[in-house]
Amino acid sequence: MRTQVGIVGAGPAGLMLSHLLHQRGVESVVIDLRTRQDIEETIKAGVLEQGTVDLMTQTGLGGRLHRDGFVHHGFNIAFSGRLHRINLYELTGGRAVTVYAQHEVLKDLIAKRLEDGGDVRFGVTDTTVEGLDTDRPVIGFTHEDQEHRLECDFVIGADGSRTYTRFLIREGKVRKDFFRQYPFAWFGILAEAPPSSDELIYAHSDRGFALISTRSPNVQRLYFQVDPSTNVDDWSEDRIWEEIQARVAGAGATIKTGTIIRKDVLQFRSFVCEPMQYGRLYLAGDAAHTVPPTGAKGMNLAIADVHVLDRALGAFYDAKDTGLLESYSETALKRVWRAQHFSWWMTSMLHRFSDATDFDLRRQLAELEMVTGSPTAAKTLADNYVGLPLV
Ligand code: PHB
Repeated sequence: MRTQVGIVGAGPAGLMLSHLLHQRGVESVVIDLRTRQDIEETIKAGVLEQGTVDLMTQTGLGGRLHRDGFVHHGFNIAFSGRLHRINLYELTGGRAVTVYAQHEVLKDLIAKRLEDGGDVRFGVTDTTVEGLDTDRPVIGFTHEDQEHRLECDFVIGADGSRTYTRFLIREGKVRKDFFRQYPFAWFGILAEAPPSSDELIYAHSDRGFALISTRSPNVQRLYFQVDPSTNVDDWSEDRIWEEIQARVAGAGATIKTGTIIRKDVLQFRSFVCEPMQYGRLYLAGDAAHTVPPTGAKGMNLAIADVHVLDRALGAFYDAKDTGLLESYSETALKRVWRAQHFSWWMTSMLHRFSDATDFDLRRQLAELEMVTGSPTAAKTLADNYVGLPLV
């Protein structure tokens, strides 16, 4: 087999790149270990930056997004006894975020790739990559009991945080990893209940952080900070609702409860690998970086990476110009580190650290007063939250 761009991973980065390349007439093949059903049913975050929404809309992926997604012009931060609204729309000159679950984006991308005749192979095994130092790298894999050798011009490592491709860049000599662990996790639930609030609530409280988000008029997504060793089975429905309610009660919010249909614990990590390229391999999305979920930047960063890669590959195929490919890592890492700072900032401002002193708590509240009270500080928060323009 032969293609122009071989893409390992059918998540947001891999599928979106394949879709963008198709639109400019560049061929690709996407492979993934997971089944289509697995990919379409895995629950992740659900906030799309303005730039992600615009890119989807401009490239023919806006149908369900605009019908079923919810445009949010602001969000709330709960602390010191009340809700403080961040007016995203006014602060950013008319930008907003859209609440639309990641697995819905994936369903849209898969449907569109298949409709456009794209080659996407699910459930592959035995993936190998060779020849990254040559201009004909080869991806080996087994699909439906048949072994394949896929010869390409470029290999894209978009295989998520459990990546295989990242490790093809030798650690030490070439690759350096930057890593930070946090001393807590999020307990996440999906519940059949009406929304408790028109807009998201990020709550700072003595009992720790909580987040009130949504998925649809009938299904809500809520999270609360817990110890990383928490076992979901130790938490009954009643105890979960009481805990979430207790964390927002001080700010005057009331949670509408319902049947909990899913419980999970999300670990918190910040990770970046540098550089994001080696020879004919280019990493994109979680294969190269992970952020804690607090600012919902994960998928948006993956989309921003492949937006850069698409243009770089376009310049190569249109004009044999390798300049943008050579600077890919540098360009992508600027946004990655901005998002790392933002996600860390939101996390550190809102969570309760077990070793926090009264001093730390007062300082945290002063920071929250600043970002909600100063228009300049609020604008910085809002600009980063809706997402900086794609470059
Ligand atoms: C979500 O709805 O899953 C969500 C929303 C906002 C965040 C993180 C996750 O900051």
